[in-house]
Amino acid sequence: MSTQLDKLKEIEKSVGELLAKAGSQADLDQIRADYLGRKGALSEIMKSVKDLPPEERPAFGQAVNRLKNELDAKFAERAEQIKTSAKPQKRAGSPDHRKLPEDITLPGKHDYLGKRHVLLAMLDEIIEVFHGMGFSVADGPDVDTAFNNFDALNTPQNHPSRDIGDTFYIEGNTPDDDNPLLLRTHTSPVQIRTMLSQDPPLRIIAPGRCYRKDAIDATHYISFWQCEGLYVDKHVTMADLKGVLIAFAREILGPETQIRFRPHFFPFTEPSVEYDFSCICKGAGCRLCKGSGWVEISGAGMVDPEVFSAVGYDPEKWSGYAFGMGVERIALIRHGIDDIRLLYQNDLRFLRQF
Ligand code: PHE
Repeated sequence: MSTQLDKLKEIEKSVGELLAKAGSQADLDQIRADYLGRKGALSEIMKSVKDLPPEERPAFGQAVNRLKNELDAKFAERAEQIKTSAKPQKRAGSPDHRKLPEDITLPGKHDYLGKRHVLLAMLDEIIEVFHGMGFSVADGPDVDTAFNNFDALNTPQNHPSRDIGDTFYIEGNTPDDDNPLLLRTHTSPVQIRTMLSQDPPLRIIAPGRCYRKDAIDATHYISFWQCEGLYVDKHVTMADLKGVLIAFAREILGPETQIRFRPHFFPFTEPSVEYDFSCICKGAGCRLCKGSGWVEISGAGMVDPEVFSAVGYDPEKWSGYAFGMGVERIALIRHGIDDIRLLYQNDLRFLRQF
């Protein structure tokens, strides 16, 4: 009998080891067939019961049954372990996407797609119109030299706009330095940069940011966009300048748009004007035109011969016009916005309207 009992112990041990290694229900089924099945190891050992003396048989039968019950319990336990480890593991805190919202008829959440800021969208349109008139785009840095921003533009040393109260100088630079660095106060230095690097004739626009120590109000901000224009060729006249600005105004703001030129002075143009576009407001309460019906856009004029000399163009041979353009002002008129500050507050409730 003792050899039979040893065999039972061996079976218990081997089944224990095999169960620990089993990775699937199929493995378990195979082990069960090999040990507990009709032709399995336990059935085989039961057959040997007849070789035992009759008084030992019942005790041996009980030992086999006990082992069978124990093994059944182990199979069940292992089967449960395999089942749970096969389930996909949820990451802690991750939402269960299979879970439906309580009311599936509710409208879904939708993400808002961004779009171009109303001001830059306006600038794109402005560039497009000038492209159509044969202008190409020139570029220059926001930080420029006093030579490009003032001297080459025929601006005298004592001109008020050079004052530290009007212009942002880069740290460590002052108006009295030799050619100090500053934040450009207009896009006109791009005229100088372009003429210094290219021969005439040329026809460019220069869109870009400018900076001035202006008091902020509905029509002024410390940083703003301009789009400079410069045309240099032979026999250019003031009529060409007026024609281009009128055509531009009507293209960008509609065929009813009026344009007004007022005599003015700029050191770098002669003669010079300031020009206004008609406002599309409904009258007296408009903060943009203050009820006058006109919004100042910028200055313009015929390029001063001094400027041509400063960049090495022969003033006897070449003539040209230049104009500035306040991009915000055009966007304000176009969209009926009466405060420039709205363009810089990044308030989505405002921006999403355009
Ligand atoms: N640069 C001038 C300004 O910012 C505008 C201007 C440009 C005037 C070109 C004449 C010619 O006020």
